[in-house]
Amino acid sequence: MIRVKSEHEIEKMRSAGRIVAETFEMLSETIKPGVTTKELNALADEFIKKNKATCSFYRYNGYPASICTSVNEQVVHGIPSGSVALKAGDIVSIDIGACYEGYHGDAARTFAVGTISSEAQKLIDVTKQSFFEGMSKAIPGNRIGDIANAVQSYVESNGFSVVRALVGHGVGAELHEAPEVPNFGTAGRGVRLVSGMTIAIEPMVNMGTYHVNTLSDGWTVVTADKKLSAHYENSVVVTAKGPEILTKC
Ligand code: MF3
Ligand code: CO
Repeated sequence: MIRVKSEHEIEKMRSAGRIVAETFEMLSETIKPGVTTKELNALADEFIKKNKATCSFYRYNGYPASICTSVNEQVVHGIPSGSVALKAGDIVSIDIGACYEGYHGDAARTFAVGTISSEAQKLIDVTKQSFFEGMSKAIPGNRIGDIANAVQSYVESNGFSVVRALVGHGVGAELHEAPEVPNFGTAGRGVRLVSGMTIAIEPMVNMGTYHVNTLSDGWTVVTADKKLSAHYENSVVVTAKGPEILTKC
């Protein structure tokens, strides 16, 4: 069942989303060679709690940390670790969820660590832009397939691939709600969008094959060919005036 939100609920989601966006702002200065992903996790955890919110991912289906940190060929759900220090040339995807007064905000960004290759920078840029291509279709009367197709077309026309094994989702009182929001598909197909629907659009884009595997930790998703992957996500509300990003400062 798709839960359409009231203005009151959307206001709470803006608050949750603002905390998520501010957490990224706070973290961005510390993402440098030498920092461990566990240190980033601790900073985010502290910041979210200081803002009277809780970490949406902590203990979600047993997830053991407050945020996800996925380095290089890791696609999503990388577990922060004290033995993983970022090094120049790495890319790191950070996924953050915060719950404020019962409502979640969910977003992800991919950061460059020090100087990275131009191919890696292109991957980050195309992934971010593919989100905006998809979001531009999030208007009442359109369908989920319009978003999915816009993301896929943009990514593939730039020579990269979209992950198919994982998808975006509705977001609200639950971190994951209906409907699923895939990053591939056919325009004109799928659930029809209405004003007040809140969805997390989250392209996961690979440099090589779209196939992925899960590591033996049960969480970390990696590319099957070990090539780089990037992730970009925002929680968005569909309105008659167009899509509004909730996970912004
Ligand atoms: N942010 C992820 C998503 O967009 C959720 C991470 S769930 C966790 O769906 F369990 F890994 F934390
Ligand atoms: Co999400």
